[in-house]
Amino acid sequence: MNIIKRIELKNFRCHDEFSLNCDKPTTLIIGENGSGKTSVLEAIYLALRGKSFKGVDREIYKNGADFYRAEIEINDGQKIIIRFNGQKKEFEIDEKKSLRLPKKNRYPVVLFEPDDIYLVGSSPSRRRDYFDELFKQINDNYSVTLSKYNKALHQRNDLLKREIISRDDLFSWNIMCANYGAEIIKWRMQNLAKINEKMTNIYRNIAKNNDSCSIKYLGAEVDEGKYLRNLENNFERDRILGYTTFGVHRDDYEFIFNDKKADGSASRGENRSMILALKFIEAQILEQEVGKKPVVLLDDIFSELDEMRQKHLVDNFKNYQIIITSTSVPKEMMADKEL
Ligand SMILES: Nc1ncnc2c1ncn2[C@@H]1O[C@H](COP(=O)(O)OP(=O)(O)O)[C@@H](O)[C@H]1O
Ligand SMILES: [Mg+2]
Repeated sequence: MNIIKRIELKNFRCHDEFSLNCDKPTTLIIGENGSGKTSVLEAIYLALRGKSFKGVDREIYKNGADFYRAEIEINDGQKIIIRFNGQKKEFEIDEKKSLRLPKKNRYPVVLFEPDDIYLVGSSPSRRRDYFDELFKQINDNYSVTLSKYNKALHQRNDLLKREIISRDDLFSWNIMCANYGAEIIKWRMQNLAKINEKMTNIYRNIAKNNDSCSIKYLGAEVDEGKYLRNLENNFERDRILGYTTFGVHRDDYEFIFNDKKADGSASRGENRSMILALKFIEAQILEQEVGKKPVVLLDDIFSELDEMRQKHLVDNFKNYQIIITSTSVPKEMMADKEL
């Protein structure tokens, strides 16, 4: 079941040298704020996904150093080595080097950060990013289409900032935005339907009552033709503002609790249970769709949850490899590493 066996870091954030064996199903890393706990999870994420969830490479190597190195040993004895020399990052697996982590070497990850707890009431862009990251893990094609969309959008916005511009200048970018945009919405709705299929049941398992919940997509336009017309109809407004006001980059997700908007109606505890449910569903869907068991990274969230929810978290993920960071040792657990 364990995917990650050992971690070794050099000049990685605040760590000159760091090593940790994690051959047990649950690994607990304890340390004060600022001692480098999140950085360890960042390195694991980098080895499993090929990029950080926090920053870019030049922020990662230790101040004053001229390289960083992370070596992660995984279950079959294979080592993933990541090196960055200030210019270039390189992944080495079985003596094969590449600039990106090859798809076949990627593992799904369920990352739970303190910020996630506030997802229900946070900004639309935060929610968009959240689900984008999840959907990218579920479908490689989503990732590809999203980056094509963002490139086209960027070009369209650049044109809109020019002094002189006509409708015709935007034509080809409108077509691309509509084409990729409609596809993105389709993926989002499809994935959301998979989440919603499970949401109420899993929520009820946590809350032990009959409440229901789901997530609703507040979206642009599924039909490509209508999408295109919307872009065209917004020409004057977009030109004055200097950016694209319509499209999937502005869409949002709304949490629904007992048929009402959760933000403002659900209690703090209900919100937390919904997020917990979402995390369990993420793990299930990733396993189902990707065919590999995700590694679960719980970054400093125990202090945010009461004992009942802490217990749910550990029980629910008991068949997964879990790596937990915390400032203190939760009840009935022993620390594997103290920073
Ligand atoms: N490139 C870097 N070089 C040295 N220290 C860094 C670098 N990037 C971040 N830090 C520092 O590393 C420390 C550890 O950060 P973090 O892993 O978030 O700790 P924790 O999660 O334990 O609170 C922080 O104090 C931060 O200022
Ligand atoms: Mg931290």
